[in-house]
Amino acid sequence: MTDIHIDCSINGQKRSFDAPRSALLLDVLREHGYTGAKRGCDTGACGFCTVQVDGEPVTSCVTPLAAVDGTTVETIEGLGSQDDLHPIQAAFVEHSALQCGFCIPGMIMRSKALLETNPEPTEAEVREALADNLCRCTGYKKIVEAVLDAGERMRSSPAVTDGGSEVAGERGAGGPCGRGRSCRHSPGERE
Ligand code: FES
Ligand code: FES
Repeated sequence: MTDIHIDCSINGQKRSFDAPRSALLLDVLREHGYTGAKRGCDTGACGFCTVQVDGEPVTSCVTPLAAVDGTTVETIEGLGSQDDLHPIQAAFVEHSALQCGFCIPGMIMRSKALLETNPEPTEAEVREALADNLCRCTGYKKIVEAVLDAGERMRSSPAVTDGGSEVAGERGAGGPCGRGRSCRHSPGERE
């Protein structure tokens, strides 16, 4: 099948890909080390694979790679580091808003897109924004509380938009995920 050439920015780094015309964004991300975006349903129905493209949340499992040519892509790896969590990651940890963690990268990226456009959402607005992101573990209450708290944290630190003081590289810097000190993944970064 004919290849296409794509230039884009991922987490602040210029990236180029040659891939089959039919390639999907999630496949290419995961093949190139951005494994924070998770594969759940593969049909656009669970939100586990959510990333941001030009600030908008998209389900990468149904987004053609061709659609991100010339865009800015953000994945969970571009957020905080172990020593400097993004406020949304910090809020998820402090509110114990994760159990197995599989849905969390998508939840965080969807929440980030919400808080960047609506810095002070109501609980109803948070629930509506996250309606397409499923979680089989938490019951959503703690996730919603974490997002509301994250909004407060981001309003008091308005300079923080895409991570802490450093933007993690291709594979992310790792960090506490709520599973104990030995874990080196940021919340939502687990494979
Ligand atoms: S894996 Fe993409 S929406 Fe479920
Ligand atoms: S924490 Fe397990 S699916 Fe959400």
